[in-house]
Amino acid sequence: GKVRAPTHIISTISDDRGEEPMYAGVPMSSIVEQGLGVGDVISLLWFKRSLPRYCTRFIEICVMLCADHGPCVSGAHNTIVTARAGKDLVSSLVSGLLTIGPRFGGAIDDAARYFKDAYDKGLTPYEFVESMKKKGIRVPGIGHRIKRGDNRDKRVELLQLFARTNFPSVKYMEYAVEVETYTLSKANNLVLNVDGAIGSLFLDLLAGSGMFTKQEIDEIVGIGYLNGLFVLARSIGLIGHTFDQKRLKQPLYRHPWEDVLYTK
Ligand code: ACO
Ligand code: LMR
Repeated sequence: GKVRAPTHIISTISDDRGEEPMYAGVPMSSIVEQGLGVGDVISLLWFKRSLPRYCTRFIEICVMLCADHGPCVSGAHNTIVTARAGKDLVSSLVSGLLTIGPRFGGAIDDAARYFKDAYDKGLTPYEFVESMKKKGIRVPGIGHRIKRGDNRDKRVELLQLFARTNFPSVKYMEYAVEVETYTLSKANNLVLNVDGAIGSLFLDLLAGSGMFTKQEIDEIVGIGYLNGLFVLARSIGLIGHTFDQKRLKQPLYRHPWEDVLYTK
């Protein structure tokens, strides 16, 4: 009989062996014919299923709103310096992407983890925030360098408005807002930031859509899929910054001495 040769790779998200490539079993022609968008493609390749339109629209809004935030933020700054050092597109892009992490753009997964844990345990915002303080951990999803209680992040407001209008439940987001109310009573810079808004709202998407089991939600949050949204989105802006610097023929960047405190 036939002997099945052992394989070295297992793959479950896409298949290009047939007449046309398939994403999670859906042929590309069907994606185009149905007029689906990038949110649907993300759903198929990341979550291995088609999601309702309000979910894919939410994913697309996250990508659009996080695509760029000006030239001064960590990621864009790195990309600009790298492009001005004469490096190629991919080098300039990854140089910016490498700044995404716990302080900048990469707090979405931890925000989801901590908000979920605190909400599911029934902790009050006071108990949650003070327990984090005792552990010496900054609350992921809270705090911003320039946004304040009296100068909210428009992206957060837009995401909240969309979810309040379209999601069946926004219980995790409302919890994050209660946490923000408490942190704002401590300091004016401790707003719910865009990472915290996406983290909490994605919990609502996962739990409220009826498309995921509890075990699948735990796996998504545990593995940490959600920083991928920021990485994907910000790549759009970082690529733009690379082209911008090349178009402007900007010279090698050198930081001014006057802006460095030389001290012993
Ligand atoms: N939880 C608790 N306390 C905080 C937090 C927080 N998330 N953020 C700031 N503080 C407090 C601290 O007491 C801090 O004092 P410390 O240095 O003694 O610990 C003080 O506020 C510092 O405030 P700022 O100078 O305004 O904050 P900083 O510029 O140092 O940090 C940052 C800004 C990195 C965003 C911070 O708020 C933070 O670490 N937040 C959590 C991570 C996060 O959500 N990052 C995503 C930001 S949004 C984005 O990047 C797209
Ligand atoms: C961003 O999206 O890059 C910002 O929220 C970070 C910042 O410091 O403005």
